[in-house]
Amino acid sequence: MIRRACVTGHPVAHSRSPLLHGYWLKTIGLSGVYVREDVPPEQAAGFYRNLAEHGYVGCNVTIPNKEIAFSALDEADETAAALGAANTLWIEGGKLHGSNTDGYGFLANLDECAQDWDKSRGTVLVLGAGGASRAIIHALVSRGFGRIYLANRTLSRAEAVARPYPAIVQPRDFADVPALLQEADVLVNCTSLGMKGSEPLDLDLSALPEHAVVTDIVYVPLLTPLLERAQARGLRIVDGLGMLLHQGVPGFERWFGVRPQVTDELRATLVADIMGTDKG
Ligand code: ATR
Repeated sequence: MIRRACVTGHPVAHSRSPLLHGYWLKTIGLSGVYVREDVPPEQAAGFYRNLAEHGYVGCNVTIPNKEIAFSALDEADETAAALGAANTLWIEGGKLHGSNTDGYGFLANLDECAQDWDKSRGTVLVLGAGGASRAIIHALVSRGFGRIYLANRTLSRAEAVARPYPAIVQPRDFADVPALLQEADVLVNCTSLGMKGSEPLDLDLSALPEHAVVTDIVYVPLLTPLLERAQARGLRIVDGLGMLLHQGVPGFERWFGVRPQVTDELRATLVADIMGTDKG
């Protein structure tokens, strides 16, 4: 039987997951299938609970269904339970299992692209308090970081994300960011600023320490205005594409039984696709 998986969300047409998993299926030489399924939120719980009847061994979940997917699970792993959101689902022993691999993807990308970025377990400044920020904060705390500033335009959202980690994550107003930069060993943009079609993140980075690592979860464009500025200052930068590539690894292994590799050729395949759609 050919094993089938999919990416679900609403809308889902923009998702690059089929390109990612299709690349792995082809290069590893497996006969599996990975497609898009547009699943509106009002149909999502039923879809996930009946995943096998829809012909799938598992799926990815993207916006806006991650919380609904979590509530449909029979078994959530520790990360999905902590976040109340799942992005990777699979059927095991007749039960629907789920995880959230966004934080894993974030850490694996930095581990790959910025050696020793976490060595001192220094101070991290995270900008933005949406779902991606929540997953990344959880991952940073799991990695052992003990001091994280979380700055957001809407302070109450930062406070809500910080609440489970009172001694570690300190919510701050976005206006405080310039004053916090001098303390940041790692700067992470989890806002949508800098994304194609959005305004840029207009930050003067001169106060960042020379050893700081700057990373962005936005990957269209690949080199965001923030990363450009950091690069111009000679700082180490890590773009957001690797997070997408790495977050797909655990799901592929669950569904198709082989742990795939994130290679330069895979990255080049995705970069070519981004360049094709990101005109300029
Ligand atoms: P996701 O779940 O994908 O992380 P989201 O929930 O839409 O996305 O969050 C987007 C983030 O970008 C939020 O932190 C948002 O700030 P608010 O919580 O105040 O809305 C931030 N963001 C979006 N536009 C912004 C802007 N013009 N200035 C500052 N922050 C902005």
